[in-house]
Amino acid sequence: MDNPAKAPSPCYRAVITGHGSFAPEKTLANDELARMVDTSDEWITTRTGIKVRHVTTENESTAFLATEAAKRALAEARLDPAQVELIVVATITPEMVFPSTASFVQRALKANRAWVFDLSAACSGFVYGLSIVQQFIESGRLKNALIIGAETLTKITDWTDRTSCILFGDGAGAVVLQRADDGRRGILYSTMHSDGERWEALNCQAYGSRHPASRELDDPKKIYMQIKGREVYQQAIRRIVETVDECLHACDVTLDDIGMIISHQMNARIIESASKRLGVPQDKVFINIAEYGNTSAASVPIAFDECVRTGRLERGDIVVLVAFGAGLTWGANVIVF
Ligand code: UT7
Repeated sequence: MDNPAKAPSPCYRAVITGHGSFAPEKTLANDELARMVDTSDEWITTRTGIKVRHVTTENESTAFLATEAAKRALAEARLDPAQVELIVVATITPEMVFPSTASFVQRALKANRAWVFDLSAACSGFVYGLSIVQQFIESGRLKNALIIGAETLTKITDWTDRTSCILFGDGAGAVVLQRADDGRRGILYSTMHSDGERWEALNCQAYGSRHPASRELDDPKKIYMQIKGREVYQQAIRRIVETVDECLHACDVTLDDIGMIISHQMNARIIESASKRLGVPQDKVFINIAEYGNTSAASVPIAFDECVRTGRLERGDIVVLVAFGAGLTWGANVIVF
C-alpha cells in the first residue's frame, strides 16, 4: 500500500474550525416502540445499545435539520454564511428528488456565494464528504466549505417491521472546514471504499428510475428501508477493522497516538466488537447511539460534535472518523483536531 506519510505534505491543510449538531425535539423511547411492534426495551438495549431516538414531525424536513446544524457550526467557526464557498449535504433522505437538499440549505443560510451539492453514500456520506472537500482545500481551490450529514430516516421506516424500525432516528451534524497553511492541524489522511455487489444488504428501492412513483409497486414495502441485519453486522465489523488498520499504517501512527475513534453509530455491539479486534481501549471509542439510534450520514458529525462538547476530544488530539453503510460503502478520516 502507498504510504502518504512518505509523500510530500500538501501546501495547505483542511482544518475543522466549527462543528454543530441538531436533533428534533420529539423522541421515541424503546418502551413506546414495544407498544407498536413485538419487541422490548431489554431486547433493543442488549442487541443494539439504543434507548431512544429523535423523530421529526410532519413539518420537519432534512433541509431544516441540516440548516440548524450548519448554523451552529458556522457560529462556532465565526464564519459569515455569505463567505461560504461550498456546501455539501450527505443524505439518503433528501428534501426532494431534485433540486439538492444543499440548495435549500444555501437558501436558508443566504450563503449566496457557495456552490452546492448532495452526496449519496448512505452512512459513509459524511466521511466521503470530508475526503472530497479535503482535496479542494489542499489544492488551494477552496478556502472553506460546510459539510453536513442530515437524515430523516424515520420517514422511510417500516413501523411494522421490528427487525428494522428499532434501529433508526433523525438528526443532523455539520462541520466547517477551512484552509490553513501551518500544517500542524487538519485532515491527515482519508480513505473511501465500496462494494456495489452487496447493494441488496441495505436499500430503499422506491421511488427512483427503477421504481418510479408513477407506476404501481410490485411490493408496497419498497418505499421503506430493507436490511439484511446479520450480513450488514458481519461486513461492518470486518470493514471497520480493516479501515482503521489502513489509517494507522498510512499515517505511521499507533493506537497509542490516537485520542479518539468515532465510528458511525449503527449498533453498539458492532462498534465494541470492532474495537476489541483492533485492541482499542473502550475509553478511546465514542458511543452515543443510546440517545440517537442510527442516523446514517448524520451519525458521525453528531457524535463528533458531542465528543468535543463533552470534553473527550481536545485541540491537537488525533481522531479517526470511520463509517460503514449501504452501497456497500465505507471509509475513514484521520484528523489532528
Ligand atoms: O448502518 C447500517 C444499517 N444498520 C444495520 O443494517 C444493522 C446491522 N445489524 C444489526 O444491528 C443487527 O443484526 C440487528 C440489531 C438488526 C439484529 O440483531 P441480531 O443479534 O443480529 O438478531 P437476529 O437478526 O439474529 O435475530 C435474533 C432473534 C430472531 O428470533 P429467532 O429467529 O431467534 O426466534 C429475531 O426474529 O431476534 C428476533 N428479533 C427481535 N426480537 C425482539 C429481531 N428483531 C427483534 C426485535 N425485538 N426488535
